[in-house]
Amino acid sequence: MDLYAALGLAQEPFSTTADPAFMYASAEHREALLRLQLSLRQRRGLNVVIGDIGVGKTTLCRKLYDEIAREDGYVIRVVDDPSFRSEFQFMNYLLHTFGVPRQGRSGYDFKECFRKFLLDMVEKGQTPILLIDEGQILSPAILEMIRMFLNFETDKFKLLQLVIFAQLELLERLRARRNFMDRIALRYILNPLQEHEVAEMIAFRLGVAGYQGERPLFTDDAIHAIYEATGGLPRPITMLCHNALEYLVLNERGAVDAEVVERCVEREAAFAAVPVA
Ligand SMILES: Nc1ncnc2c1ncn2[C@@H]1O[C@H](COP(=O)(O)OP(=O)(O)OP(=O)(O)O)[C@@H](O)[C@H]1O
Ligand SMILES: [Mg+2]
Repeated sequence: MDLYAALGLAQEPFSTTADPAFMYASAEHREALLRLQLSLRQRRGLNVVIGDIGVGKTTLCRKLYDEIAREDGYVIRVVDDPSFRSEFQFMNYLLHTFGVPRQGRSGYDFKECFRKFLLDMVEKGQTPILLIDEGQILSPAILEMIRMFLNFETDKFKLLQLVIFAQLELLERLRARRNFMDRIALRYILNPLQEHEVAEMIAFRLGVAGYQGERPLFTDDAIHAIYEATGGLPRPITMLCHNALEYLVLNERGAVDAEVVERCVEREAAFAAVPVA
């Protein structure tokens, strides 16, 4: 049985991949996106976006990438997994991803190659940008390197623009490093959705998936229950909505109401409570 066809949908509305096409522009996401775009245009250097697990950082990162990549004058790259084991490995990665020819063999040589590349780009009117997701796993040595890149500058601006997206634990670590903290041009804490935004996000995702039905698939009570159960965090919301729609179809109910949501929440709680030997 095709679950979504049964609901009149063209595609899955609540997949948990970070697809920017499914990003509902919440007040938080919209503000973060605008401020990041402004900061990148002004070439202010380092920007850090911090948020809880599943709040939408990767989605925002991909959306920012899409927006910037559409414009002229930017050379933008994304690091999805910054678990570099050494400074040398990170430097190598940067040269490779930006397509910089290597000269020399030492870490120092590579750093110089990269600096010259950045200068060259800027002289050609291009702005190099590096987006780093999963920033909480950056090692102290790589953080130190990032700080060092901020010394690459002209009189007016930084040569390399950076955005780090990270879970809250990075904030703790950065607080212990004043010299890093002081150099962040834009700090943004991405907060969960408010209750009315949960309703809008669900309607938005159903719309993108092709829902054109007259009746709402989720009642107001259901939305309230979803908000209460998830605290407004998009990933738990997405997973709960997925389970609720499945329940709806399998049990031939007309709409997701608070009771359906409760059933799904209880099922998940039971799963979480299974003792692990
Ligand atoms: N603004 C949004 N509108 C609609 N869906 C969203 C939004 N933000 C996040 N989501 C959905 O929530 C899920 C988790 O998002 P994402 O992977 O971006 O979170 P994250 O903050 O990167 O999580 P983690 O801390 O685990 O890396 C995805 O399914 C994504 O589609
Ligand atoms: Mg993520």
